[in-house]
Amino acid sequence: MDLQGRLEETLPSEDGMADWRTHRCGELGLGNVGGRVRLAGWMQSKRDHGGLGFIDLRDRSGLVQLVVDGTVHANLAHLMDLHCESVIAVDGLLVRRSAETVNEKLATGAVEVRVDRATVLGAADVLPFPLDDAHADLVGEELRLTYRYLDLRREKCRQRLVQRHRIQTAVRNYLNGQEFLEIDLPILFKSTPEGAREFLVPSRLHPGEFYALAQSPQQYKQMLMVAGLERYYSMARCFRDEDLRSDRQPEFTQIDLEMSFVGREDIHRLVEGLLQSIWRDVLGLNLTLPLPRLPFHEAMDRYGSDKPDLRFALELVDLSSALRHAKLQIFSNALRDGGVVKALNAKGLANISQGELATLEETARAMGAPGLAFLAMVNGQLRSPIAKFLSREEQDAIVAALQLQEGDVAFFAAAPWETACSILGRVRLDCAELLKKRGQLHLSSNSFHLLWITDFPLLTYDGEQGRHVATHHPFTAPIPEDMPLLDSNPAAVRGQHYDLVLNGMELGGGSIRIHSPQLQRKIFEDLLKIPPDIVENRFGYLLRAFRYGTPPHGGIAIGFDRLVAMLCGTDSIRDVVAFPKNQRGVDLMARSPAPVAERQLKELSIALR
Ligand code: AMO
Repeated sequence: MDLQGRLEETLPSEDGMADWRTHRCGELGLGNVGGRVRLAGWMQSKRDHGGLGFIDLRDRSGLVQLVVDGTVHANLAHLMDLHCESVIAVDGLLVRRSAETVNEKLATGAVEVRVDRATVLGAADVLPFPLDDAHADLVGEELRLTYRYLDLRREKCRQRLVQRHRIQTAVRNYLNGQEFLEIDLPILFKSTPEGAREFLVPSRLHPGEFYALAQSPQQYKQMLMVAGLERYYSMARCFRDEDLRSDRQPEFTQIDLEMSFVGREDIHRLVEGLLQSIWRDVLGLNLTLPLPRLPFHEAMDRYGSDKPDLRFALELVDLSSALRHAKLQIFSNALRDGGVVKALNAKGLANISQGELATLEETARAMGAPGLAFLAMVNGQLRSPIAKFLSREEQDAIVAALQLQEGDVAFFAAAPWETACSILGRVRLDCAELLKKRGQLHLSSNSFHLLWITDFPLLTYDGEQGRHVATHHPFTAPIPEDMPLLDSNPAAVRGQHYDLVLNGMELGGGSIRIHSPQLQRKIFEDLLKIPPDIVENRFGYLLRAFRYGTPPHGGIAIGFDRLVAMLCGTDSIRDVVAFPKNQRGVDLMARSPAPVAERQLKELSIALR
C-alpha cells in the first residue's frame, strides 16, 4: 500500500529546507512544553492502543515520543499503518507527560508530541532484520553488511562513526597546532613488490602498464621532506591485498606523518602528545606520559611478543641455566642445539581442563613445539607427566624461579630462543583468555596500556629467498652505533624503527629514515641484494632526490581504524569503517568486486585467461 500522499500535505516543498523541521527530536525537553514543533525522522517503533497510537520518532540527535490520536484526527490514522523505519514529518504540540508515563531512560522522556498534521516522506518496506540491538546483534554479519545502511541506523553503530569523527577532529586539531601541514598524496602509485601484495590498476593510456594503489604514502612523504615541507600529515587511505582478519581491511586509513630534523625521541614525544590530546578530548581520560619504551629483544624475552599486552603480567622466565643438566630429552636436546628452555607461570590456572590443555598444546605444536610440557602445583605436590624426570634440585629451582604456588601451572617451551619465546607468547595470551573466562583476570574497558617497542633488527633473514629482507621497510636508518656491523654482521644491526603497541595490538610503526643516497643504495644493493637495474627502476628517483640536499627525517603511521576500534571498545575494525569489506574482501552491499564488460577490458588492453 502506498501511503505517500494519503496523509495531509502540510509541509513546504523541498526548496524550503529550513522549514523541514523546527527542532531535532533528541533536543526536546520541558523547556519546549507548550510550543508547536515540526519534526522529521524515522518511525523507530509504534504501539497502537485502539485509536491512540504511540510512535518513537528518531533523527540523528535522538528519540521523542509522538502521540497520534486517530479519534480526534481521523486523517492521521493511516500513520499507524506504516512500517517501522518509514520517514515522516509531523507537526504538533509539545506537552509534558503525566507523571506515571515519564520515561527516565529517555533523554526526552518527560515530554511527548501531540501530532495534528503529518506527511510521509519515505515509506519503508518490511526490513530484512529488526534493528533493535537485542535482535540485530544475533543476525549474521553478512546480512548486516549487505544492508549496512540499515545497520548504521542503530544508535550503537552510528555512535562509532560519531566517535571516529571526534577522534579525527582531535588528531587534526593537535597536528595543526604543531605546525603540521595536511597534504593529500597520490593514491595511484607504482608497484613496490617489496611490501605487501598490491592492487594493480591498468593504465588505458599506456597499454600493458600499471599503477598500483599506494600501500602507504611512504615514499611521497619522504619526498615532501626533500622538498622542504618539514612537517606533513594526512589521513591517508592505504590499500593492501592481504589476507583479512578482524584488524585488517584491504583499504584502511592511517594517521600518516613525517618530520624533518628529528630523532626517535622527538617523534615519540610528538605522538605521545597527540595520543594524550585524543584521550583527553575524546575519552576525558588522562594518559600518563612518557609511555614505556621496551627494546624488541626484551619484549620477546619477557612477553614472547613484539606487541606485548601489558594489561597483565604473566612474564616468561628463562630456565636454561637451572636445567642445564636436565635428563629430560626435550630440554637437553634444545639446550644442546643452542636453544633455550623458557617457562611461564599461569597463576591460578592449575584447574585447567583436559580439553583446554589439549587446545593449548595444539597451538604450541602449530608453532613448531614438539608438545607443551607443564607442571601444576596441586595439594603441595608437583603434578605432571614430566615431574618424575626432573631431579629434586631441578624441581626446586623451577618452583623458585617461577614462584610457583598452590593452584598455579607452569608451561614450558624448549627451542631456539625466538621460537621458544613466540610459543610461550601465544600460550600467555591464551592463558589470559582462560583466566578472564574464569573471572580470575579483569580487564576494564578503560584500561589502555600503550608502549613503544624499539631496537628491532634492521634486517630479517628470509630462508625461502635465501637473503635478508627489511624487517619493516628498506628506508629505515640503522642505529648509528651499529653501523660498523653492516658489513660484518648485518643480522645484528638494529634499526631506528619503533612500533606503538596498545593492549597487545600493533597500533602504529615508523622510523628515522636513511637520508644519505650512498647508504640507501648500499642497503638496496649490498644488503637486500636487489639488482642495480631494478633498484634504478624502482627507486632511482628517490636516490636522485637524496642527492639534492636532503634533511634528516623520520615519521610514523598510526592505524586509524585500529585506534578508533580500540577507543570504541570493539575487536573488529569493520565496526568503525562506514562501508567495510567482509573477511573475503567483498563489499556485500554494492557487490564488489564484480566482472566488467568485455569492452572495458579491451579498452585497457587486457585479456582474461
Ligand atoms: P605499517 O605498514 O606498519 O607502516 O602500517 C602502519 C599501521 O597501519 C595499520 N595497518 C592496517 N590497518 C588496517 N588494515 C590493514 N590491512 C593494515 N595494515 C596496516 C597498523 C600499522 O601499525 N609507511 C609505514 C609507516 C612509516 O614508516 O612511517 C607503514 O605503512 O596499525
